Amino acid sequence: MARSTATYICQNCGAAHGRWQGKCDGCGAWNTLVEEGDAARPSGPGRASRKGRLFALEPLAGEGQEAPRLASGLPEFDRVTGGGFVRGSVLLVGGDPGIGKSTLLIQVAAALARAGHRAVYISGEEAVAQVRLRAERLGLGDAAVELAAETAVEDIVATLADGKTPRLVVIDSIQTMWTDTVEAAPGTVTQVRGSAQSLIRFAKRSGAAIILVGHVTKDGQIAGPRVVEHMVDAVLSFEGEGSHQFRILRAVKNRFGPTDEIGVFEMTGEGLREVANPSELFLSERDLGSPGTAVFAGIEGTRPLLVEIQALVAPTSLGTPRRAVVGWDQNRLSMVIAVLEAHCGVRLSGHDVYLNVAGGLRIMEPAADLAAAAALVSSLAHAPLPADAVYFGEVSLSGAIRPVAQTAARLKEAKKLGFTRAIVPEAARGEVSDGMALTPVAMLANLVADIVERGTKARRTGT
Ligand code: TYD
Ligand code: MG
Repeated sequence: MARSTATYICQNCGAAHGRWQGKCDGCGAWNTLVEEGDAARPSGPGRASRKGRLFALEPLAGEGQEAPRLASGLPEFDRVTGGGFVRGSVLLVGGDPGIGKSTLLIQVAAALARAGHRAVYISGEEAVAQVRLRAERLGLGDAAVELAAETAVEDIVATLADGKTPRLVVIDSIQTMWTDTVEAAPGTVTQVRGSAQSLIRFAKRSGAAIILVGHVTKDGQIAGPRVVEHMVDAVLSFEGEGSHQFRILRAVKNRFGPTDEIGVFEMTGEGLREVANPSELFLSERDLGSPGTAVFAGIEGTRPLLVEIQALVAPTSLGTPRRAVVGWDQNRLSMVIAVLEAHCGVRLSGHDVYLNVAGGLRIMEPAADLAAAAALVSSLAHAPLPADAVYFGEVSLSGAIRPVAQTAARLKEAKKLGFTRAIVPEAARGEVSDGMALTPVAMLANLVADIVERGTKARRTGT
């Protein structure tokens, strides 16, 4: 008797299990296993007896290796993809529901259509009338984007293959798509994977660029589409804080370009507006003269970016003080706090610590250590930092300030925005400073002493 071939697939990571269980062995998530048909097994007559077909191997150097790119017409979008759409490439754009993915992609499709290319937008979530209404509100009503509300992948591929190949196809979203080739309910990992496979095959065959939209779950994982990440050429994540207008498009993976570039947009009543100079935006509502804020001169990809780092250090009423951080790495905060305690005589064990990167940006660079430390000490000592200074440098566990890359670019951007001073690692002494006054710091303890002294002086003269 044939055994049942049902498999239980984790909807979070895609791991397959032979029987149902409460916890996934793959990722440790609870209650994520769903019974799905055995899709992984290829079926059909003569499976075992099929003889291999011969194919030609090609040299690495050859014709057509330069990937022809098509700029979207939105420079911030192209910056993240690495210069536009590559023929036959597939992009996954992930983000929280409501963050603006559909808005962004209808704008991209419209920009391409206006440039005379065939752009198709397939919505599995909204009716054609809804998409049209939105496009009209965005002032894109005149763009010749071809719309459809469809979810059956076979129908979509057949329709797209019929007639002139589109340059861009937007599939919004991959979670709503389903294909006949696998036996599983729509929305399951198996369906998402099967649908993506069909669409990717179509892209490679036809040369059309395809954008798959994927919704992200609360904990930042692209649910379902996560299993698609390794199949696509690029994964872009569209992020932002709900309460802020800024939206950041970030490349998480990119086979055709860099992964550290970000594109900055602002959500307005007329859709997403590109922000060509993000530093101005992130510093626009600065809290001058209050303790606990430091401006960090950072680099995102190839572009310098100034942001304000805010800290609040307050006596705690809890046994274990709180350490909360928004927009930065929790582990780096713990490390900076440990160095302040161990090497700089700063006692934070009786204080709650909150750290926030203004504007809803998320920073990855270790170069932000120095600015974070300065903000923390400034808050603790009630000593406002000079309003015309920027900070950058990596803090090592010994308390020394390590050099960081691209000092000149950071200083240039700071100067452009009216700053006159920079607190920098010792190694940056003698850098071309472009008229900026440099204060090199060798050890974090020196900076802490300076800030505390400023605080004492200000209090003495102030009262
Ligand atoms: P949407 O693109 O539908 O998000 P997603 O596809 O990622 O789920 O964007 C929805 C939000 O964007 C909605 O809450 C309203 C806001 N929005 C604006 O503020 N201005 C606009 O012009 C548009 C179209 C949307
Ligand atoms: Mg949407």
